[in-house]
Amino acid sequence: MKYAVIGSPIDHSLSPVMHNANFKALGLEHDYEALNVDPSNFDSIKEIINEKNLSGFNVTIPHKEHIIPFLDDIDEQSKTVGAVNTVLISDNKWIGYNTDGIGYVEGLKTVYPDLANAYILILGAGGASKGITNELMKHVNPKITVANRTLSRFDNWQMDINKIGLEEAEKALSEFDIIINTTPVGMNNNKDLVINLDNLAPHTLVSDIVYIPFKTPILKAAEGKGNPIQNGLDMFVNQGAESFKIWTDLTPNYEVMKDTVLNHL
Ligand code: ATR
Repeated sequence: MKYAVIGSPIDHSLSPVMHNANFKALGLEHDYEALNVDPSNFDSIKEIINEKNLSGFNVTIPHKEHIIPFLDDIDEQSKTVGAVNTVLISDNKWIGYNTDGIGYVEGLKTVYPDLANAYILILGAGGASKGITNELMKHVNPKITVANRTLSRFDNWQMDINKIGLEEAEKALSEFDIIINTTPVGMNNNKDLVINLDNLAPHTLVSDIVYIPFKTPILKAAEGKGNPIQNGLDMFVNQGAESFKIWTDLTPNYEVMKDTVLNHL
């Protein structure tokens, strides 16, 4: 069977090496490739994919929203987030899923098992935040707090959460057990922190969905204070593992997937 990831640019994607290593570890003769689909060609996506005879594919930037009109059905998580990262092709039907949120939460559970009782602050209110929040709400009892620079961004959020600004988040920081940065602040050599960590409690886990760079400035600052940290590598590996489960109903070799990504960073 054949699988792929579509995006643009896609050259640096680690999904092919990660999935192919998993296929090999499980003795499967499947193949996974990266397909650069320019946004100007997206109207032809059905032809592009059908020609490849794929059984499923991942979708990454900038196509996670563009793909939706081409799908025959989509799951609840994708509907809530308004974005799809996994497509299963079955009997010529295209079914959309979003494994980013569950991928993040599966990774978080490995470093913070008592999620049910955690007070969680999420920084940013874009698509990534929405997916993570929606998935976390299935696991966490206390109301989740989401902080964003622009409060109007919450206008289309239907979820039962606390919505605050970044200054309020800074003041209330000590109340949280887990802080999750979903903003791009700290990527691309940006040294800024999205909020200052002056009020961080000593036990609080600080997490970022980014893994390149491996330690974003907010993770470095938290680590410097002696706090536990987690970067976005587990989220990346787990979203892929969840896609694989959707496509094959098999259990992936998570360790091989993670080691392969680590070796290619
Ligand atoms: P994604 O799909 O990755 O979540 P997105 O939908 O573009 O990306 O959302 C980016 C998030 O990062 C938003 O919450 C954005 O805040 P605004 O709604 O105020 O734009 C946040 N963000 C981006 N740059 C930021 C910055 N310099 N400071 C604070 N927040 C920032």
